[in-house]
Amino acid sequence: MNPDRLYLDFNATSPLSQSVNDWLKSGDFVFANPASQHTDGKASRKQINEARDFVFRCFNRSPADDRLFFHSGATEAFHTLAHSLSEAARLAGKDLLICFSRIDHPAVTSLENSYFGPHVKFFELKRGADLRYLHVENISHLQDRKENNPELLILYHHLWVHNETGQVSPLEDLRPLRSLTDLIIHVDAVQAPGKIVDWRNLSEGDAWSFSSHKFGALKGVGFTLLRSSVPFHPLFLGGGQQANQRSGTENVMGVISTHLALRDLESVDVLKTQGERTRLLHFFEAQLAGGLGGVIDEAPAASNTIYFYLSTVTSDIALAMFDLSGIEISAGSACASGTARPSPVLIQRGLKDLARNGLRVSWGFVLTAEKRVQIEERFLLAFARLRAT
Ligand SMILES: Cc1ncc(COP(=O)(O)O)c(C=O)c1O
Repeated sequence: MNPDRLYLDFNATSPLSQSVNDWLKSGDFVFANPASQHTDGKASRKQINEARDFVFRCFNRSPADDRLFFHSGATEAFHTLAHSLSEAARLAGKDLLICFSRIDHPAVTSLENSYFGPHVKFFELKRGADLRYLHVENISHLQDRKENNPELLILYHHLWVHNETGQVSPLEDLRPLRSLTDLIIHVDAVQAPGKIVDWRNLSEGDAWSFSSHKFGALKGVGFTLLRSSVPFHPLFLGGGQQANQRSGTENVMGVISTHLALRDLESVDVLKTQGERTRLLHFFEAQLAGGLGGVIDEAPAASNTIYFYLSTVTSDIALAMFDLSGIEISAGSACASGTARPSPVLIQRGLKDLARNGLRVSWGFVLTAEKRVQIEERFLLAFARLRAT
């Protein structure tokens, strides 16, 4: 990382954790296929087994109750779960309803554009202007659907920590959903690790998906924990790796990096970073007041994220301006070509006219007072430039 630049885009991807960095520098890698029966193959298998044990321990889950499989990241996980339950419903002659919210990550909302069969329908979970799930209204709607179709299977996606705003939707709020039968809760846990105090406490849900590059491991790897009672039909068939849950030669380096990065994360003091966030939030509010823009902040929020908008500058232009000031942030809603797309978050918030102006600042798991001051100083200059133009 270039020390002259401020990398504040951790929610897109985080730099490698210290242990992953040290390990890569050491050059001490296992390389063999973990399915091979020779000594080197067994060395790879041992590393994967150790990582599996660690994940179970870290999240206080047990191989007796849960499945665990590694994959390429949360996008694959969402499609695996949708496919899996679509198959379970089809084989049982039932319908499947997939629930999601409009401000979920595109990896979830795009499921709507995939065709799973005539037995699969979608329902958009309602959220209020404060972006909170309207649980009472949503449950009442699902109860009606169940009354009309008692056999209905439901896949319910819950976004734990929002990738743009950092808003936390507590898992405990999902408890009333347990009154509905054949409802499987899948938690998008991608942005939780190291950013909320109880990130290891999977207190509600039936499946939880993670992307390892969001917490200091390599890209192209992630994992899903899933209650054994949930019907499971793998997306990929092939060599039968990972107990047939996800065929394909296992990504040993990715899995080892996941183990190392999670271990590093365990010692993070989330509350300390949360305190610095509050100070930074006040700084942004003060800077943006008077017409320059505003902050979208709905508590509780992750320790590392602030979402704001500028009143008169779209995010594509703003990103270039911040980049020139040495600040690397992002517009959560930018498409691959870099043009500003309207942000569903700002639309939901009732700020349709500003929907192309949303910006996200997201820093690391540890934010010291010195680092916060450095961020403030850099933004002071950038905001002064913006006012001048
Ligand atoms: C909340 C959330 N869910 C899912 C994803 C998709 O993760 P990946 O791109 O690693 O598959 C992301 C990535 O930004 C995310 O932030």
